[in-house]
Amino acid sequence: MDAAHLDRARQQFADRNPGSRRYFEEASKVLPGGHTRTVLNHPPFPLAFVAGEGATLTDTDGHHYIDLLGDYTAGLLGHSERRVLDVVTAALQTNVSVGGVHPAEAVLGRLMCERFGIDRVRFTNSGTEANLMAITTATQFTGRSKLLVFLGGYHGGVLYFASGPAPWNAPYDFVIAPYNDLAGTTTLIEQHSSELAAVIMEPMLGSGGCVPATAEFAQGVFAAARAAGAVCIADEVMTSRHGRQGMLRLLGAEADITTYGKYIGGGFSFGAFGGRADLLDQYDTTPGARTNVISHAGTFNNNIATMTAGGAVLGQVFTADVAEAHTARGDEFRQQLAAVCAKHPLPMSVSGFGSMMSLHATATVPTNVQEAFARDHVLQELVFLGLLERGVYTAFRGMVNVGLAHTDDQLAAGLDALDDTLAELSKLQD
Ligand SMILES: Cc1ncc(COP(=O)(O)O)c(C=O)c1O
Repeated sequence: MDAAHLDRARQQFADRNPGSRRYFEEASKVLPGGHTRTVLNHPPFPLAFVAGEGATLTDTDGHHYIDLLGDYTAGLLGHSERRVLDVVTAALQTNVSVGGVHPAEAVLGRLMCERFGIDRVRFTNSGTEANLMAITTATQFTGRSKLLVFLGGYHGGVLYFASGPAPWNAPYDFVIAPYNDLAGTTTLIEQHSSELAAVIMEPMLGSGGCVPATAEFAQGVFAAARAAGAVCIADEVMTSRHGRQGMLRLLGAEADITTYGKYIGGGFSFGAFGGRADLLDQYDTTPGARTNVISHAGTFNNNIATMTAGGAVLGQVFTADVAEAHTARGDEFRQQLAAVCAKHPLPMSVSGFGSMMSLHATATVPTNVQEAFARDHVLQELVFLGLLERGVYTAFRGMVNVGLAHTDDQLAAGLDALDDTLAELSKLQD
């Protein structure tokens, strides 16, 4: 696809969005790049949103968008889920910041343990922190320090492996394994077996392009890790929304520690790590219980807003039954998206699992991050901009997430917008 088309599309985007541009220029004076979430960046500047309702977003220029991104999975519930907002509003009238224990924390803890089949859980403020603490749990338990992670994995800002370990990562001793390559990974696990504290795996690469693990890979990796005496950590920060107990179980595998985040906080900052009692009980501060307690403080770990919201999310809104049905609805939408791509003579494909998916400017569905990143970058951006022009908000990198607030009509409108965008881009190719 010709880069001149991209220049034109970017210019049209800029002309349509003068308010967002002004916001971006002002914000950039105090926030490097105009914001504090690198993933939001795209040329020429990101939209500034001022309101949301259900699955609709409104930007500062008054444009309405069908929100097909759902805040990179954190916005599963949509923008106005009353059952969550009402309980949080009520709770905040009673107590805001408590330097002590309060009932909502154990309520959410019990819901998480019952729902996800884990013995114990601890809360953090983000998925990044949850993964850092899961690593601490494993290194302290095993007395080892090496960590096996996957190329294309993302476990937080300082645990970033898009194309190898990022130079700004937390200074752990990482071994990088090839995702969806069981033989290659098993060899590495065996090579480092006496030093490996943990293997950390996303059941589906999320930031890496919604590339699901095969069941054989997920099962085989954790079996090999266990045989080596390493702790199996599943990063389900994004994927715990799938099925009744998260995606790893659907792949037929089980973790020793699982990390959680995103939607469980109902839109408030959230993270958690949970799993086997013998691992998590390293944090047990009960007087006399143990001598080698790991300290894990955190001012906002048990904050009232998140604990209360999480209780409503898992207890009322996103029950196991709802999660199971939502996974099936997502599978159906992904197939429809793929059918739209197949109609047009462009290298476009769709990957994903359940309600999480990604549009790729690639001729075939990627099975690892190298294939996902070998896309036609110009076409990828033109699709993103074409969808925006038609009132549909997705991620710059192509991520699409079906949420609970989407109506069937909104999903159908999303498909129509993609169809129209690809039809127009196909003509440009001629
Ligand atoms: C799989 C995965 N793990 C961890 C994280 C980090 O979570 P947070 O952004 O809450 O720190 C993310 C965020 O996108 C993620 O996708």
